[in-house]
Amino acid sequence: MNKRFIGTVISLATIGLIGIIFIQLFWFQKAIKLQEDQFNNQSQIALKGVVNQLFKKTQPISFVDNDCAQLCDLESPEVLKAINVVLLNSLLTKEFHDLGITSHFQFGIYSTLTKKFAIKGSGVNERKVVKSNHKIALTCLHKADGYVLSVYFDKEKDIINGRLFPLMLLSQLLVIGLAGLFGYVVYILNRQKKLGEMKSDFVNNMTHEFKTPISTISLASEMLLKPEVFADSNRVGKYAKMIYDENSRLRSMVERVLQMAILDKGEYHLKMREADTHQIIRDLIQRFILAVKPLGGNICINLKATRYTFKIDKIHFINIISNLLDNAIKYSPEKLHITLKTWSDDIGFYISVEDKGMGISQEHQRHIFRNLYRVPTGNLHNVKGFGLGLYYVKTLMAAHGGTVKVSSELRKGSKFELFFPFIHQNNTIDEQDSEESQSVTG
Ligand SMILES: Nc1ncnc2c1ncn2[C@@H]1O[C@H](COP(=O)(O)OP(=O)(O)OP(=O)(O)O)[C@@H](O)[C@H]1O
Ligand SMILES: [Mg+2]
Repeated sequence: MNKRFIGTVISLATIGLIGIIFIQLFWFQKAIKLQEDQFNNQSQIALKGVVNQLFKKTQPISFVDNDCAQLCDLESPEVLKAINVVLLNSLLTKEFHDLGITSHFQFGIYSTLTKKFAIKGSGVNERKVVKSNHKIALTCLHKADGYVLSVYFDKEKDIINGRLFPLMLLSQLLVIGLAGLFGYVVYILNRQKKLGEMKSDFVNNMTHEFKTPISTISLASEMLLKPEVFADSNRVGKYAKMIYDENSRLRSMVERVLQMAILDKGEYHLKMREADTHQIIRDLIQRFILAVKPLGGNICINLKATRYTFKIDKIHFINIISNLLDNAIKYSPEKLHITLKTWSDDIGFYISVEDKGMGISQEHQRHIFRNLYRVPTGNLHNVKGFGLGLYYVKTLMAAHGGTVKVSSELRKGSKFELFFPFIHQNNTIDEQDSEESQSVTG
């Protein structure tokens, strides 16, 4: 799948999703309108029912049939007097209740001409009742003045929304779920894309790194095959050493990549033993000083921890610090000044490795512990690496129950801080085994 195709699919899916949301909003509006109409119809039916009941109760003459319209010849306003608030209230309550409307309502009978109320419930807001849509003409009861019975529902909007609520909620949840899933798919696609790029960088780097020792070995063995070289024991020794060194380099690179695959699957066991970490650090620094001195740099150590003997996997411990020192050297092209400090408290042991090198921008700091991640340097490939070191550090620190933190400023330097807890909880650690684990990185 190429970038453009993925981009087009994502854009189309986004447009589709936005379209669905708009269509849904449109249908919500329609549904609300329909519910309003239905509510109006229901209230009309109820009001008609009430009027019919009123006729039954107040009709001084006998019914021709049950139709209100045919009983409209009652001219006497006296009829109004026969209707009392309690009766009207109970009739309205019953009719609305039968139609499933239980909300509180205000009601009254008023003249459309004078807007004067002939009958009204207690605490009625006349303005609201007059403005209400739910009314029915009472011309049957008093034709001349055009009296109407009007009802105002305090929570009409809530009733209508309440009826639609379950459906709206469900469809909104579905859309949110869909949008969430879509976002997740885009995120995964993006990650996959980045991972793909990182993997191809890794393969390029790897090929490059492998090429040098392979060609050196091939050249040296070619020389060894020459009779004049073969006869000269000094030169044989020189080329044999070259082959040996380059072969060791190749082996350690292959080992490193293979071990990384094991790390990735979590198939490793730590061999925890009490060890003097200060002594290990001192020994290690001796090795690194040899590498730093010719480059005109220096390494300062400040070992202040009061408790420095505790259980660690020695080989992994060495590898973790080696990786940090290795990075500090690699990424300090100008000012090669490294400081290693240790300190301790009640809960654990701390190590910091600080350099005055190129630093890491905030944006990249979040990613540097990911497998194969390397800060992009454009087309510059002067600093070799696979992006495995810090991933290794993070994974092994977690296996020790500890943590690794970075603080860095671009062009000013970086500081990596390790924390080893004295009591760790990680049950993947094999404490019984006294053998030390194999070297992973160096
Ligand atoms: N001390 C540092 N100063 C500046 N950048 C650093 C430092 N340490 C790590 N980085 C950045 O973090 C990235 C990841 O580091 P990591 O050690 O995982 O990989 P690497 O050094 O590139 O390769 P490898 O360790 O596998 O040889 C590096 O590519 C580098 O850009
Ligand atoms: Mg590294």
